[in-house]
Amino acid sequence: MKKKILSVVLAAVCVLSLAACGSKADSKESKKDTIVMATNAEFPPYEYYEGDKVVGIDAEFAAAIAEKLGMELKIEDMAFDSIIPAVQSGKADFGAAGMTVTDERKSQVDFSDSYYTGRQVIIVKEDNTEITGPDDLTGKKIGVQLGTTGDIYASGDYGDENIERFNKGFEAVQSLGQGKIDAVVIDDQPAKTFVEENEGLKILDTEYVEEDYALCFKKDSDLVDQVNDAIAALKADGTFDKIVEKYIGTETAE
Ligand code: ARG
Repeated sequence: MKKKILSVVLAAVCVLSLAACGSKADSKESKKDTIVMATNAEFPPYEYYEGDKVVGIDAEFAAAIAEKLGMELKIEDMAFDSIIPAVQSGKADFGAAGMTVTDERKSQVDFSDSYYTGRQVIIVKEDNTEITGPDDLTGKKIGVQLGTTGDIYASGDYGDENIERFNKGFEAVQSLGQGKIDAVVIDDQPAKTFVEENEGLKILDTEYVEEDYALCFKKDSDLVDQVNDAIAALKADGTFDKIVEKYIGTETAE
């Protein structure tokens, strides 16, 4: 009888310790530190939804960077103008959103090395012959995505009263399609995607401003150096180009 009890107890101990082992292994898996990326997933081909998943150049590039750092990437989608505050408050570890390096932003966050060149372009209706370049935008109604460099430059150059701000770049393009505004100023790659999706629009050949995209971090974050090393490695080994190629084609990445 005693023996029986002992073996039952032993068995129970074994089962328990096995379970403990199991969960230890699990927690080792999930112990990988998570790194949180703030983005605004309204910006194809950099970040956008495919079903309920955020995909795109930034999403994949960030995942590759996280892997290099031995971390697990978590993406938080938010309004574009919430990204810097999220990074400053530590709600996110970094921002990746086709974000342009500007002096003003540099005073709020630290930037990684730049990983892409973007261009602000002008979209108008296909049959528009009046607006052929930036100079013709004076006095016109210009649509932009709130808080983007398109917004900042266009309101500076053409006056706040001529700017119509939208939460999503796509909404600005739709409004243009409906003839409610005269032009949209937005980054070149999303412009291409949006124009393909909306009939009757064209992108002007003359670009408006050229700019550098980088990831942003809380000021003095230790992550910047590690991420810069990862960026350099992913550029050197061709990973970055492969990601760009997947989303944009063979156009050179920089
Ligand atoms: N490059 C522009 C900027 O930094 C637009 C970026 C918009 N990005 C986005 N994910 N919606 O202001």
